[in-house]
Amino acid sequence: MRKIKVNLGVRSYNILIGRGILNNLSRQLQKLNLGTDAYIITNAWLKNKYGVILRKALSRGGFNAHFKIVLDSEKSKSLETASLVISDLARFDNKKKVFIIAFGGGVIGDLSGFVASVYKRGVSYVQVPTTLLAQVDSSIGGKTAVDLVLGKNLVGAFYQPRLVFAEINFLKSLNKKQLASGLAEVIKYAIIKDRKLFNFLENKYQAVLKGDEKALESIVSACSSIKAGIVSKDELEVLGLRTILNFGHTIGHAIEAASGYKGYNHGQAVALGMVVAVEISRKLGLINLNIAKRIEKLIKLYGLPVKLKGVTINKIIDAHYHDKKFVGKENKFVLITGVGSPKIVRNVKLDLIKEAVRKVV
Ligand SMILES: NC(=O)c1ccc[n+]([C@@H]2O[C@H](COP(=O)([O-])OP(=O)(O)OC[C@H]3O[C@@H](n4cnc5c(N)ncnc54)[C@H](O)[C@@H]3O)[C@@H](O)[C@H]2O)c1
Ligand SMILES: [Zn+2]
Repeated sequence: MRKIKVNLGVRSYNILIGRGILNNLSRQLQKLNLGTDAYIITNAWLKNKYGVILRKALSRGGFNAHFKIVLDSEKSKSLETASLVISDLARFDNKKKVFIIAFGGGVIGDLSGFVASVYKRGVSYVQVPTTLLAQVDSSIGGKTAVDLVLGKNLVGAFYQPRLVFAEINFLKSLNKKQLASGLAEVIKYAIIKDRKLFNFLENKYQAVLKGDEKALESIVSACSSIKAGIVSKDELEVLGLRTILNFGHTIGHAIEAASGYKGYNHGQAVALGMVVAVEISRKLGLINLNIAKRIEKLIKLYGLPVKLKGVTINKIIDAHYHDKKFVGKENKFVLITGVGSPKIVRNVKLDLIKEAVRKVV
């Protein structure tokens, strides 16, 4: 089992990663002294698939497991669902010592973290991420949120979990699309921060795409280290260090919005966004054509798109103005000067953005 620490003073916590580590969960929870009653937020499919083994793993340490089922998909990241969960939790939390377990992908993680942050002004929660995206990204760093009709993640807080427990074996049941969605974020980490990971992804793509657990464990560890390092230095995103994690996301989010959140999932949209960010970097002379080509090849190798259909350049450009990270009219792009070296560039000219977007349309 690998251990990575998120260093945040009194709010520090460990990320534990391994294959076949579920039976160790109880011991880790006992060490944290969180309580005896685990309120597990998950969806029906995950409970069906893993509920029995999760309950058994918890009972080894004398924990009671109570499952709360919410709907699958982004629909669950709403104030309505949060309110229903909180009322249910309050009924359950009667003469018990309760803590929350977020058992699922990023949707369950964000919702559970949000509920944990507001219920009784904050109760302990643990992330047990089950998608690749959640293991490498959303379970780490304490960004919790629900969506409004007006936009994604508009209501939430920074609220850190007490533990992130990444059992690699859960990833075996992901379908190709779900795996690819996480792999887009993995490629992102490699491009902005980790040449070794980039080479690994180039060399081991067959193993990774087959879902080889050893390869996935290496990937989750490498990405978790990067995210833990960045979060430890800039927990609340005030120093701008967390911004580099947004690589590919400015145009990626715009593509998701412009396609009505239907055509392209998050990972696919981020892949396209990365191609655009690489193209802007190239046009600004920050990288040469060879590096750009190598990155595009890697994205393709993982079955992610580098061209999109059915969305116009203007729609993407319109949507990109709504980026939460822009202040006033000033835009801010995460670009690169090479694999592993990010650079934040402000006020990129509109014509240049348009030309770069043209590359993927
Ligand atoms: N908090 C953060 O820092 C952060 C970062 C990135 C993304 N996010 C959020 O994460 C969400 C996306 O997360 P996601 O990609 O994990 O999507 P998701 O949570 O919707 O999960 C995707 C699908 O995979 C299924 N699933 C989960 N685990 C499975 C398993 N082991 N086997 C088979 N199927 C499984 C889920 O039921 C769901 O249908 C978005 O809401 C996004 O805003 C948050
Ligand atoms: Zn993302």
